[in-house]
Formats: sequence, C-alpha cells, structure tokens
Amino acid sequence: MHKSFDIFFVSSNSHKYKEAKNILNSFGIKLGFLKLSLEEIQSNSLKEIAEKKALDAFSKCKKPIIIEDDGLFIDSLNGFPGPYSSYVFKTIGNKGILKLVTTKRKAKFVSIITYCDKKILESFDAKLDGTISKIQKGKGWGYDPIFIPKNSKKTFAEIKCKNELSHRFKALRKFSNWYLHKLESNDQ
Ligand code: IMP
Repeated sequence: MHKSFDIFFVSSNSHKYKEAKNILNSFGIKLGFLKLSLEEIQSNSLKEIAEKKALDAFSKCKKPIIIEDDGLFIDSLNGFPGPYSSYVFKTIGNKGILKLVTTKRKAKFVSIITYCDKKILESFDAKLDGTISKIQKGKGWGYDPIFIPKNSKKTFAEIKCKNELSHRFKALRKFSNWYLHKLESNDQ
C-alpha cells in the first residue's frame, strides 16, 4: 500500500535519512526518502551549498522536500574540514583526521536543514560542540567514532541517545517548530 508522507528527505546518504526519520517522527512528521545524488557547489558557506542542493532536489522531485548539509569544524585546524567534510571523509577518513589533530581537540558539528516547496526556501541551522577522540571508538557511520559530544565521555558511535542531542536533532527541532506552525496558519 502507498504510504503517505508529509515531506521527502532527498539525499544519497541513508544513515542521515534513518536518523532524520526517527527524529521527525517524534514530532509527528512523516518523512519519506528519495535517494538521489544532488548537485553540490563548492563554497565556504554551508547555507549556500544547502540552498543550491534544495533547489536542485525540488526541481527533480516537484514535491515539498528537505535536504541536509553538514560539516565537522575542528578548532585547531581553523575549521577544517568544514564544508569539505564529505570529501575529506572519503579521502583521508577518520584515521587521517586523527593524525592531523594532535593537542587541542575542540570541534563542532554543524547541520543545516533546508526546506523547499513551490514558494518557500527556508533554512534552519544548529551546532553541537564536542571534541575529537584520541582513537576511534564504537561502530558508527562517518565521523561518529571520533566525535565526542560535550558533556559526554563516549563518542557518537558509542552512545544510544545520539538522536536526542545531535546537530541533526537540533536543526530538525527548529525546522519542525516552523513547519508545524506553518501548517496551523494554513488551516486558519
Ligand atoms: P554532507 O552534508 O553530505 O556534505 O556530509 C558531510 C560529512 O559529514 C559526511 O562525510 C558525513 O559522513 C559527515 N557527517 C555528517 N553528519 C554526521 C553524523 O551525524 N555523524 C557522522 N558523520 C557525519
């Protein structure tokens, strides 16, 4: 039977979708998945990258969509890899990052969620402070085995409550507040 979804998450990354689906479900929003690779421009601004990706996704799907763009920003590396996090993960990976981070380990994850429909393009951002671990710990995707969120001793890959505190959770919570309010105003 055809499931009815409120909006679609467009991405080639099914890990991100699974997390986003669970988070939005807890706010009462049903999220479908359209697995597509999107055009990604080179820019130092995550918001600019996200908004271009969202316009590309909407032009391909013609449905209300959200996309997500993230970055891991390491203080001692002047914010590297930042907007280049995906490329850096594919090339040097967590092993390479651990070699680059020697003493100061502060870092943050940033997430931008961008919503796009026929009339609206709106972005919601959030950050989560933390540190880079000394070794990889736990089994998780992406940078999860090396990112320790603030006030925790464990990496994202080791904790069970990632979806209740992550950068993704915080950006999606902002998005949900806005989206549910928009639906309410449309009903009036
Ligand atoms: P992009 O948003 O698809 O450009 O991805 C940015 C990079 O950050 C990807 O390489 C992801 O693997 C990584 N990333 C984003 N969010 C997370 C997360 O929650 N955990 C681990 N890695 C992440």
